[in-house]
Amino acid sequence: MQEKIQNIKNEALAQIMEAKNRSELEKLRISYLGRNGKVQEIFKKLKKIKIEERKHVGNLANGAKKAIENAIDEKKIELASDLLNLKEWFDLSMPGKKNGIGYLHPQTQVLTEILDIFKYLGYQVADGPEIETDYYNFEILNFPKDHPARDAQQTMFFDTSGTKYKPGEMVPRTHTSSMQGRVMERTKPPFKVIVPGRCFRYEQVDASHGIEFWHVEGFTVDKNVRFTDLLGTIEYVLKSLFGSDAKIRFATTYFPFVEPGLDAYLQCTVCSGKGCTFCKRTGWSEIMPAGMIHPSVLKKTGIDPNKWNGFAFAIGLSRVVTLRYKIDDLRILHTPDVRILKQF
Ligand code: DAH
Repeated sequence: MQEKIQNIKNEALAQIMEAKNRSELEKLRISYLGRNGKVQEIFKKLKKIKIEERKHVGNLANGAKKAIENAIDEKKIELASDLLNLKEWFDLSMPGKKNGIGYLHPQTQVLTEILDIFKYLGYQVADGPEIETDYYNFEILNFPKDHPARDAQQTMFFDTSGTKYKPGEMVPRTHTSSMQGRVMERTKPPFKVIVPGRCFRYEQVDASHGIEFWHVEGFTVDKNVRFTDLLGTIEYVLKSLFGSDAKIRFATTYFPFVEPGLDAYLQCTVCSGKGCTFCKRTGWSEIMPAGMIHPSVLKKTGIDPNKWNGFAFAIGLSRVVTLRYKIDDLRILHTPDVRILKQF
């Protein structure tokens, strides 16, 4: 009996050593350690052995069983590490990597909010070309050629050589005000429209300026629109965006397509009015230039200025985002670094 146990053990260990894969190993395990396996057979026979030998034989059988179990465990590890070296093998039980679902850019989040505010006020949204003609970007808005107000627009020009356009006729739009003419020509008043979009200027890039920025232009044409309607609209929009204690300041200014022209400033949220690089140490940030639409703009688009009037405004979207999140440098918004973007 003792010899038999020894033989079974040796045979098992030899076969386990030779096993080529997991399924062969499993078959061996069943044939030795399974319910009807060879080791189990020995245990079944123990009862028939004389009582004085039984303990000794029992110990031997247990020892053989342990040795076979250990050999199987070791072989399993060996087979697994072999598999790791194969290129196409991968462990199905390994936890997967989570794919991030991404983030909405802070500017997209704020734009969505702005659109909601204006939707509530009854505005429609219009979209238009980023490459614009001199006519819609300037001429129709009362900027004749050589008008000094063009200087403030820091315009870049397309090289039109070899095309039907005269030099200087095509520009990357400098404001989405260029959509005023396009909409007014085609739409019967009354209407309220906003135009979010990208604008381009030849700017000295700094914490609060970039060559590419976003504006949300807005305009209303109706009967008996008053200057106070404009002030109320600006106040409502800025307080919806920055909270009811937002500090707003108005100043008169000049834009050729409005009369009178208005500049709305928001107390700088980056420094709470103390003065920082973002607000150029003034404590205030120009955020919503506006005014009453100049009668000659209406006239040029075929709207009778004796019957209709209105106001227009623009929101510096990129600036709202930076003031909103107290980002002291506009350039941060244009990095594709998700470590920055995922904070919003
Ligand atoms: N388009 C002007 C600019 O980019 C901003 C502006 C001023 C828009 C007054 C308006 C307005 O609609 O009424 O500098």
